[in-house]
Amino acid sequence: MSSILVTGGAGFIGSHTCVELIESGYEVVVVDNLSNSSEESLKRVEKITGKPVKFYQADIADEAAMNQILEENDIFAVIHFAGLKAVGESVQKPLEYYTNNIAGTLSMCKVLRAHHVKNIIFSSSATVYGDPAEIPITEKCPKGQCTNPYGWTKSMLEQILTDIQFADPEWNVILLRYFNPIGAHKSGLIGEEPNGIPNNLMPYITKVAVGKLPQVNVFGNDYPTPDGTGVRDYIHVVDLAQGHVKALEKIKENPGLKIYNLGTGKGYSVLEIIENFKEASGVDIPYVITERRAGDIAECYADASLAKEELGWTARFGIREMCADSWNWQKNNPNGYSK
Ligand code: NAD
Ligand code: UFG
Repeated sequence: MSSILVTGGAGFIGSHTCVELIESGYEVVVVDNLSNSSEESLKRVEKITGKPVKFYQADIADEAAMNQILEENDIFAVIHFAGLKAVGESVQKPLEYYTNNIAGTLSMCKVLRAHHVKNIIFSSSATVYGDPAEIPITEKCPKGQCTNPYGWTKSMLEQILTDIQFADPEWNVILLRYFNPIGAHKSGLIGEEPNGIPNNLMPYITKVAVGKLPQVNVFGNDYPTPDGTGVRDYIHVVDLAQGHVKALEKIKENPGLKIYNLGTGKGYSVLEIIENFKEASGVDIPYVITERRAGDIAECYADASLAKEELGWTARFGIREMCADSWNWQKNNPNGYSK
């Protein structure tokens, strides 16, 4: 039976996707250089599913290693999560971000082509819309100006994969534009483990909840939104993971190039997230209003109807479950995967 190669499979979204793939009957092979993750996440995936996960610790830019992986396994498709993703760090280290994300993907695609593996599902982001021209955002909304090198790597890789597919229609490319993934697996065994002080709202809130940070800084309350704080489309990571299983089913139809938003279609403000988290966890979350964060936009939420029509996928979990599951993971693993 052929397998699915999951790059970056030890990471937050990758590990949850491995669980959903295995539970849908797929065999997975993971390649990850562990630059932002730990092998323990894959041990937990094995614990949840009761199935072994074949793991290669390697960089996607390492052609010899990638060749070996493709020789040793019969790969049907690649789900490509591997990449660096810290927005602020990408501003400080553009060379590292462009090299890792773009050069790494180019190198990997050459190896894939040499092995006639031409099905790829790519982790893109709503960040490619820039300050969106329309809300809710449909896939027809034009791509915009990104505000940081990380965002540009997503935008450029979308273009690169589009050009590869155009030149050789044997390729099937599905670009998945994620909105804001949060939550964790119900078991509380896998979840998000950012390095250092989290940049994103939900991991920051959970660190405040476990007492590792004093309060949440709310970045601005003067946006043109109902309560003045930023509105985003938060999506449960398990829903997102299941979106990849649906995309994999789609890729079997040889669809060529496809682009889908993966979001819930519903926006929540920062203050609404804090409130929902308090109610879901029973823990008070102190916060202060601070300056706006550079590069932030007021509002961003999806029109997710195309994924529903073409993939038969919709998000099932609401904001309360997202908060409860983020909390369940954090409280059971206050130090993440390290003991
Ligand atoms: P993550 O950092 O938890 O996972 C990425 C994984 O890729 C890590 O395990 C890391 O070790 C690995 N990796 C990085 N560079 C590599 C390389 N050159 N070779 C091999 N492995 C490498 O991040 P995540 O939140 O799970 O995100 C997964 C993907 O989804 C990323 O491409 C990210 O940019 C994208 N994405 C994430 C979000 C989000 O908010 N989490 C939103 C939109 C898009
Ligand atoms: N926010 C705070 N305080 C914090 C962190 C965030 O008030 O400590 C606010 C932000 O201003 C924003 C909202 O919470 O209004 C969400 O911010 P996040 O940093 O959690 O998420 P972003 O929407 O800024 O960005 C995320 C990912 C990007 C991805 C983008 C679009 O970090 O990688 O979603 O999908 F590109």
